[in-house]
Amino acid sequence: MIVVEKADTRTGHSLTAAETLQLIAQATTTCTLCGLHTGRVCAVPGEGPPDAKIMLIGEGPGYHEDRQGRPFVGPSGQFLDELLAQAGLRRAEVFIGNVVKCRPPQNRDPQPDEIATCTQTYLYRQIEAINPRVIVTLGRFSMNLFLPGAKISRIHGQPHPIAGRLLVPMLHPAAALHQPQNRPLLEADFQSLPAILAQVERDQAAQAAQAPPTQREDDLPLEQLSLF
Ligand code: URA
Repeated sequence: MIVVEKADTRTGHSLTAAETLQLIAQATTTCTLCGLHTGRVCAVPGEGPPDAKIMLIGEGPGYHEDRQGRPFVGPSGQFLDELLAQAGLRRAEVFIGNVVKCRPPQNRDPQPDEIATCTQTYLYRQIEAINPRVIVTLGRFSMNLFLPGAKISRIHGQPHPIAGRLLVPMLHPAAALHQPQNRPLLEADFQSLPAILAQVERDQAAQAAQAPPTQREDDLPLEQLSLF
């Protein structure tokens, strides 16, 4: 079993988000926890800033991603870049990951055991490290991790509060490449993202302002006050 440490084993210091993501990325390159590793050229751990406010989660690497070790660099990725740009977002400011880190053969659907292994070992730890305010799921496989049984055609674009953040299910960009009538839906959903992020940031700031201070100055012991 691959263990991604939460602390430096020599010093006991907890790892930064960047260090955690780096360890996860390294672990994916040698992972043999499911059968997908046998066909991979490169694992695709995901990429983006460790403190990204928005995290996008696709399904799994395709042909181009498997060759390059980077997420969404093929035709779906070119369209994703367009969608981000239309929404006024830069690719460099979001974290882009996938449910599974290795390409399923012939781009078949990832299987339940592959999804369970890969998400528990890598994806959920990436989410914990990045702690994004908004998670955008691209396609039904990533949506179903958080909203099992939900129908994407019914709920796409609608923000769902989950574990202190907002989850926004969206169609997979490939859905618009295969069926052009889906393009305006995806464009509209992406264009709502900045407002959704602004709302969640306002809500979190309001909550923080209401929360009692964890330790008020007059509660501090005298020797600590003397340090100020
Ligand atoms: N489709 C995905 O779901 N992920 C990628 O990285 C590329 C295409």
